[in-house]
Amino acid sequence: MNKSLLPKVILISGTPGVGKTTISDLLRKQGYQVLSLNEFILANGLFFGLDLSRDSVIVDEEILQSKLLEEIKCFSDLLFIEGHNAELVPSNSIDSAFVLRCNSGILRERLESSRDYSKNKIEENINAEIMDECLLAIKYHHSSTKVFEIDTTTLTPHAIVNKILNYITEKI
Ligand SMILES: Nc1ncnc2c1ncn2[C@@H]1O[C@H](COP(=O)(O)OP(=O)(O)O)[C@@H](O)[C@H]1O
Ligand SMILES: [Mg+2]
Repeated sequence: MNKSLLPKVILISGTPGVGKTTISDLLRKQGYQVLSLNEFILANGLFFGLDLSRDSVIVDEEILQSKLLEEIKCFSDLLFIEGHNAELVPSNSIDSAFVLRCNSGILRERLESSRDYSKNKIEENINAEIMDECLLAIKYHHSSTKVFEIDTTTLTPHAIVNKILNYITEKI
């Protein structure tokens, strides 16, 4: 398919708890199209099963990529795709990527107050943030994509959305 007919896809990644869903809700309120990768995976049954030791689903990456390419064609102009595993979106459709970051102490507070996660899962996520896992995954899978990090520790969700939109509208 002609790439010019596809929407510009902007990834929003980051460790669970950094604020992807919060930011996505604000973007939707402003009229932007946002696809949640987790919801897409669950709604389409694109997983093999559960990894009980990690309390997470095992994604069928190959089928996910082909289904995503079909889905992306249904959108126009601009499409945000959010998920801690946003690196799984096929490269040829991506314009740029934002990785939300957070201080590990504040991230722990956010996870403890908003999630029903086990202690192990909270620690696993904090370690993932400290080890730059989401950032490295995006850079590894999409080496030619522009990647921006936003430290959300002291920013309000509105300020984060404004940063993202400022970048995008300047570039369009
Ligand atoms: N910029 C922010 N400042 C303070 N708290 C935030 C911010 N963004 C999100 N939160 C809070 O952190 C928690 C996790 O946010 P959420 O959007 O669910 O993260 P994610 O989708 O990345 O897992 C929620 O309780 C949310 O209200
Ligand atoms: Mg979320």
